[in-house]
Order: sequence, then structure tokens, then C-alpha cells
Amino acid sequence: MTTTTLVAPISLSNDLLTGAEWSPPHTRELLHLSADIKARPVRYASTLHGKFIALIFEKPSLRTRVTFEVGIQSMAGAVVFLDHTQASASLGARESIADVARNLDRWVHGIVARVYSQRVLEEMAVNAGIPVINALSDKFHPCQALADFFTLEERFGALRGFKLAYVGDGNNVCHSLMYLAARLGVHLRIATPPDYAPAPEVIADSKRVARETKAKIELMHDPREAVTGAMGVYTDSWTSMGFEAEEAVRNQVFQPYQVNTELMSLATSDAVFMHCLPAHRGLEVTPEVLDGPQSVVLDQSENRMYVQKAILHTLF
Ligand code: CP
Repeated sequence: MTTTTLVAPISLSNDLLTGAEWSPPHTRELLHLSADIKARPVRYASTLHGKFIALIFEKPSLRTRVTFEVGIQSMAGAVVFLDHTQASASLGARESIADVARNLDRWVHGIVARVYSQRVLEEMAVNAGIPVINALSDKFHPCQALADFFTLEERFGALRGFKLAYVGDGNNVCHSLMYLAARLGVHLRIATPPDYAPAPEVIADSKRVARETKAKIELMHDPREAVTGAMGVYTDSWTSMGFEAEEAVRNQVFQPYQVNTELMSLATSDAVFMHCLPAHRGLEVTPEVLDGPQSVVLDQSENRMYVQKAILHTLF
């Protein structure tokens, strides 16, 4: 894979809220920077010297919290962790989101936030001049999708024309994969049950960008059609955080979308299996696939750290 040294920050939007902020060339540059940071971490060991970054989490996390904390500290920055995972501590309860953002703006250099509602992130971004990074919301998970495409580029090289199938819920991860696939020239086939398709505005924006980049974003309901000939097969939990009340219904509706050895056999012989984790063995994926030789889920997890360091290097 090509690596470039990007010591000077790329000129980008101040925030990362969706994955649609950056132009196709800027998105590619960010992946190249991620590769350089992974190959030469010492070069970036002082990037965040003297910078304090607030991590706000309304939902549980393993990967996102650890990779941000380790990534920030490995670039000489400091983390201020704000635990909002208890209902009693939810954002906007003790004081408004705008006031939280305006106060943080006076003390720290950036905010990384995992929230229930995308609107919370947008309100923070409007009220704080410092960068706001989405660490997962109900609508988007851009850090995850960037790590996913970095993982694919690392393994397969240039992503233009790469055939990726996404099978399951048209959720936050799917939305950010769509935005980034469009910007990176990927051919993304998405198979969801009819009532669980991605949001219309995300489809519209992704297709608009795809026309410029020659990417392809296809929507369908048949998982077999999506996976046939794919070089990567991606799925996610059928019940994302915040939708637990729907779990029994979802487990029935999504059953035909389970990624198992039979479905994987329709992909190319060197296809990889992808999942953002945590995974539920026996539901969206069988243990044979998740723990099998085609699975790159731990590479995706590892690469969260490098793309997030690249995001921080770029925005701070
Ligand atoms: N994939 C992901 O965001 O993992 P966590 O929920 O553990 O952070």
C-alpha cells in the first residue's frame, strides 16, 4: 500500500460527525495518513502534546474507548473521560447540551462523543468551536467505517471498484459505510429486510457522490444477490444499542440475513468477513465464519486506533 507523510494537516471540516464531511481526495489522504501512522508511530509521538481531549460516553464501549484513550496518550495528549452511561447522568439532564459544549470549549481542545442521538453531536458542534468527533450515534459511526476501509485497502490495495456486500440492518455503521464507499469509489451492495433499509437522505447523498467518483451503491433485499461475487462480506448486530425493546422481532426478521458458510461460499474464494463487533455468534454470524480464516474482525479493531490517530492528527 502507498504511504505518504502528511505532517501538515489536511484542510478539512472542523468536525467528524457522519463521514460525509470530507471530499473523496481528503478521504483517501486520511487512509494514507493512517498507514503512515501505523508504520511509523514514533513520528507522531508528540502530535497532541499539550492537548486535552474530552471523551463523553452515553453508551458502553470497549473498542472505541480503548483505542481513543491509547491513541491520544500515544501522541502525548491527555484524556478527560466523562461517564454518561447512567440514565441519571445523561447529557442534557443536569444542564443543556449547549452549555456542556460551551464549557468544554473553554477547557479542552476537542470532544469525542458516543451518544444516543445524532442531534446531540450536532448541537455540540454548533456550540463548541473545538472539533467534535462522533464515536457512534444512532445514525452514524464514521470512525468504524474509516477503519473498515483502511483494513480493506491494507489487504487488497486500491479500493476503486472493490465489491463489498453489507448484509443486515441499514443502521449507523451501514450509513457511514455508504458515505465512505461513495467517496472511495467502492461498489457497495446492501441487502436489508424491506423495513430496515438505510435512511433515504443517506442513500441520496451516497448515490450523488457515487456518480462523481464512479462508485456504485446498490440496495436490495436478497442477501444472496448482494454477496455473490463480493470480495468482502460485512454484517453488524441485528439489534443496535438503543433498540433492545425490538430484539425478539428483529431476531426473526433478520434470520435469513445470517452470514454463515453457505452465504460466504457465494463470495470470491479470497473474500474477507467483516464485523464491527461486538458480534453475536449464532445470530448475525455463525461461529465458523466469525472465528474462521476469512474473518478480519480483529484487524478492523486494531485499525480503529490508527485511523482515529489520523483523524486527531488532522483535526487538532
Ligand atoms: N465497534 C465498536 O464501536 O465497538 P465498541 O462498541 O466496543 O466501542
